[in-house]
Amino acid sequence: MRKLLIAANWKMYKTPAESAAFLTNFFPLVKDNTTAEIVLCPAMPCLPAVVEAARDESVSVGAQNMHWLSEGAYTGETSPTMLTAIGATHVLIGHSERRQYFNETDTTVNLKLKSALVHSLIPIVCVGEHLNERERNLTADVLNLQVSVALEGIDPASLGPLVIAYEPVWAIGTGRTATPEIAEGAHKIIRARIASIAGSDVANATRILYGGSVKPDNAGKLCCLGDIDGALVGGASLDPASFAQIIANATSR
Ligand code: 13P
Repeated sequence: MRKLLIAANWKMYKTPAESAAFLTNFFPLVKDNTTAEIVLCPAMPCLPAVVEAARDESVSVGAQNMHWLSEGAYTGETSPTMLTAIGATHVLIGHSERRQYFNETDTTVNLKLKSALVHSLIPIVCVGEHLNERERNLTADVLNLQVSVALEGIDPASLGPLVIAYEPVWAIGTGRTATPEIAEGAHKIIRARIASIAGSDVANATRILYGGSVKPDNAGKLCCLGDIDGALVGGASLDPASFAQIIANATSR
């Protein structure tokens, strides 16, 4: 059984004070949760304090990005060594906004995934097609290529912690959610590709999250299908009540 994973991607929102205020309200709302693994991904300046605050809670904390090297002259970057040193346990890799605005490619995603696994960070690798690709029936091609390059040269035995987030670019921040059937179809494509590269044991153990305009009112429906193992939530994770309600609805599936 794959444990449901519900992750919050706060993107470039929330100061440290705003993060602290969120946590004060959020922790009591999820204190009885045992069904889902909950992960918060705040912006870098908030990361140490959020890790500290979550220490006695059943909530994990991840970064939204990292460099693949342990250290070096790379101004503005954060290394996996720094993330593990402060107690972060997860890292988002290859979010479509990183690909779109910061020139991330499938090749850098591959480097970052290898590095996360070496540094014992749980990688959440983001994939997804653009609207024009879906309209031209290229969704399967895009997903297969993104997954294939991401996993290139990685020993299947090291892929136990792998998490994939399917985030169709046309559904991010648009209010336009994939139907559960569209998401389930994409997740099956992704799982089949993982199976063909790394074997069916790895594929069956890999959690595949859906992301893109997940809200309290659609989280239950999206997470009720067998190949959808949770959600990566942007806008609706910024409010503690809304994010807690998403978790409650997803876990009551
Ligand atoms: P929204 O939930 O705001 O559409 O963002 C999704 C996302 O990009 C999560 O990583």
